Amino acid sequence: SRSINLAVIPGDGIGQEVVAQGLKVLGSVLPQDVKLETKEYDLGARRWHRTGETLPDTELAALRTHDAILLGAIGDPSVPSGVLERGLLLKLRFAFDHYVNLRPSKLFPNQATPLSGRPDIDFVVVREGTEGPYTGNGGSLRTGTPAEVATEVSLNTAYGVERVVRDAYERANSRPRKKLTLVHKNNVLVYAGHLWKRIFDRVGQEYPDVSTDYLHVDAATIFFVTQPERFDVIVTDNLFGDILTDLAAAVTGGIGLAASANINPDRAFPSMFEPVHGSAPDIAGQGKADPTATILSVALLLRHLRFDAEAARIEEAVAADLAERGSAPRTTDEIGDALVVRVAG
Ligand code: IPM
Ligand code: MN
Repeated sequence: SRSINLAVIPGDGIGQEVVAQGLKVLGSVLPQDVKLETKEYDLGARRWHRTGETLPDTELAALRTHDAILLGAIGDPSVPSGVLERGLLLKLRFAFDHYVNLRPSKLFPNQATPLSGRPDIDFVVVREGTEGPYTGNGGSLRTGTPAEVATEVSLNTAYGVERVVRDAYERANSRPRKKLTLVHKNNVLVYAGHLWKRIFDRVGQEYPDVSTDYLHVDAATIFFVTQPERFDVIVTDNLFGDILTDLAAAVTGGIGLAASANINPDRAFPSMFEPVHGSAPDIAGQGKADPTATILSVALLLRHLRFDAEAARIEEAVAADLAERGSAPRTTDEIGDALVVRVAG
């Protein structure tokens, strides 16, 4: 019989609260005969304050043994900026070779968005996850002096670009509209931008059914707002993808609904699923956080582990819940409970 051995990293702030709801829904959607085992890892700000550790090698090795990782949020104002981001979150993405950072954007019914009334929005951003300006390839000279010089070099390899571009073509090819847009900035970033464009064009020859398009990232932000329905699958670099997916969330119902998957398509390492939002320390501990983004991330997790029917049940439950969601605010727990009832019913 089937089983899921899941690592759980609730992390900081609202991460704890939303992950609890995600696990609740996961427990109710799985058929009886599926054995769900979860192991919680205490990583994040508390651990760092207690021991000074972000992600010890022993924990990294233990995490590797799981089928998948569910992560809440990482980051706290009491920890210097970058320590947990680089030492924990990005370390996981890099160590487990999560080169596909998948971020779907869908306009659910009845969502108050700056674009409500627009035609259907349903696109997915394939954000490169292991290269670009995120590699820590840079430095600072004469730090803190008026003569300081800082570099932050964007690293792009033909290998890294080709594998994520290929993944994006596969995804586009399996969707009804079969459209793939490359977003970069090759009028200015002529080395990396041209590498991406050349590989994009070459791999595209293997996918004659996929129609392709190229946009500079600044122009893409305009179309995200004025014409979001033009997008189907978007492939882009790590930093552009980071920025575009926050904008995508804002135009499709808010960051409370945006799910993401850090995928190692080769399945050599566990993939990791997390809401796009952060730890939101301003509302932490108040039961106000919307757990929907985490619950939709659980759906992505299930699809990755080939529980397609269960993933679809969660997505349908969320759509139905949002369609009937009134204006009265609900607590984190109430939203989780409502979705538990829907996925079970
Ligand atoms: C995200 C976050 C992270 C990123 C930060 C916290 C390192 O903004 O998942 O989008 O930039 O990738
Ligand atoms: Mn981000």
